[in-house]
Amino acid sequence: MIVFDFITIFPDIVRPYFEESLFKKAIEKKLLRVRCHNLRDFAAGRHHKVDDSPYGGGFGMVMKVDVWHKAIASVAKLKITGKKLKPQKKDAAIIMLTPRGKMFNQKMAQKLAKMKQIVFICGRYEGVDDRVAKNIATMEVSIGDYDLMGGELAAMVITEAVSRLIPGVIGKPEFLKLRSGKDGFFESAQYTRPEIYSPKKGIGWKVPKELLCGDPKKIDAWRQEHGQVI
Ligand code: 6GU
Repeated sequence: MIVFDFITIFPDIVRPYFEESLFKKAIEKKLLRVRCHNLRDFAAGRHHKVDDSPYGGGFGMVMKVDVWHKAIASVAKLKITGKKLKPQKKDAAIIMLTPRGKMFNQKMAQKLAKMKQIVFICGRYEGVDDRVAKNIATMEVSIGDYDLMGGELAAMVITEAVSRLIPGVIGKPEFLKLRSGKDGFFESAQYTRPEIYSPKKGIGWKVPKELLCGDPKKIDAWRQEHGQVI
């Protein structure tokens, strides 16, 4: 059982995604849990202020280190190691989503699938006080070379890539399409009926004849040629 903890000021954006389809089933089967926490619940004062203006001046607001610390400490047990905070459990990750982070890939998904708890720090606005990334997060992760408005979608992408590697989440293990001896996975082009599709008179889109020949050797050879290892 992996627990995914999202800490965000928009828990209602995140939560519904996991209440449908394969996630709904996986959660019912107790293969994983998704918990969404509102950062604002950990902010002091009547206004539940989660951000403040940046030291040194500049544009925008910065999310506060004390609020993030309280929120993270409420979902994961932390211990002081040197001058930093670390999760008490070795099989827990605290991930800061940021475009400056280490690029997410399938290999990272495989490593994360071995964890018991993954906490996502989903920042918004111009940024999060850097003391959170430097002293509380166990890693900074990016999902690609572009800017998003916040970490929520990135954390959801990571959750999906990790969850489908948990045995039982996507049904039959062959759906994982894992090739022995490779870290990646292999997927070839796929077709189903009709054999010829005509979007317009005079045009016919055909299924490759190799897939229709019924010879498993030929079919496999075609698939090897028309797929990719990612
Ligand atoms: Cl993880 N966060 C944000 N805010 N933007 C991103 C990203 C993450 N990865 C790519 N762009």
